[in-house]
Amino acid sequence: MPIQTTSKIWHNGNLIPWEQATLHVMSHVVHYGSSVFEGIRCYGQPQGSAIFRLPEHMQRLLDSAKIYRMEVPYTLEELCAGVVDVVEANGVSPCYIRPIVLRGYGEIGVSPKGSPIEVYIANFPWGKYIESQGGADVCISSWNRLAPNTMPALAKAGANYMNSQLIHMEAEANGYQEGIGLDVNGLVSEGSGENVFVVRNGVIFTPPLGSSALSGITRDSVLTLARHLGLPVTEQSLPRELLYIADEVFFTGTAAEVQPIHSIDRIVIGDGKPGEITKKIADEFFAIVNGLKPDRFGWLTPVKVNASEPVRA
Ligand SMILES: Cc1ncc(COP(=O)(O)O)c(C=O)c1O
Repeated sequence: MPIQTTSKIWHNGNLIPWEQATLHVMSHVVHYGSSVFEGIRCYGQPQGSAIFRLPEHMQRLLDSAKIYRMEVPYTLEELCAGVVDVVEANGVSPCYIRPIVLRGYGEIGVSPKGSPIEVYIANFPWGKYIESQGGADVCISSWNRLAPNTMPALAKAGANYMNSQLIHMEAEANGYQEGIGLDVNGLVSEGSGENVFVVRNGVIFTPPLGSSALSGITRDSVLTLARHLGLPVTEQSLPRELLYIADEVFFTGTAAEVQPIHSIDRIVIGDGKPGEITKKIADEFFAIVNGLKPDRFGWLTPVKVNASEPVRA
């Protein structure tokens, strides 16, 4: 889907016109993938709009930057305020928010020292990431996720998404909606842009971060919701074949939200319908983000924008 433009983009502390947020082709990031970024959703609610887990996302952005020795000249509070400013200035809700820290135009060597750090925050409308009736059909990719000590999986870096693209393109080329990558040991890691959860015999499992999975904010939210709903949940290494014999499998992510999986490698999961536990968690998640249940974990940052679409149940 082509990007739907908005009016302003936050750049290094100022709101600039969308069309002026451009980069030189010789910028460091273009050649070496030197960026870290976030993806955040702002939800429409009956009483206005709210950004989901804003400080946690911006802290992860700072953490990603720290791993890559990028010195971001803004505090967590300044970055969160920048997100609120751009969302309110554009007046678009619901929306997807894309903050990015990158190494700009300066020197062309691999050493990033002479290239300035630039920070941008954009927002725009973005609907469902995975369109599916009753669950996504996915595959296990022939591409592994990043091996430890190669590209750090805990950093949400632009360059990591070359691996995600390989996984996603292979899946699409073979008629699937998404691909799941295994880690360097052949254990389940994550989707190209989602964390994975498995339900078997009433227990919820998700791979540990050591399996090269991103520390997903939605993953953390689902772990919290499951514990509060009294559902047993454990983070542990998962063999690939456990996915095939699971009762339920679902993805989590800012873009994918809570997404049931119908089949993996054409093997139908459970009875082929979104499972009870998946539904319980999805219902709770959407009720909170859409403002239909109290924000009991303090996950929402209200913004002064009226939602343009009715709240989804
Ligand atoms: C590779 C990868 N894993 C997991 C996730 C889910 O993370 P989050 O829930 O923070 O969006 C994403 C999306 O950001 C991702 O790109």
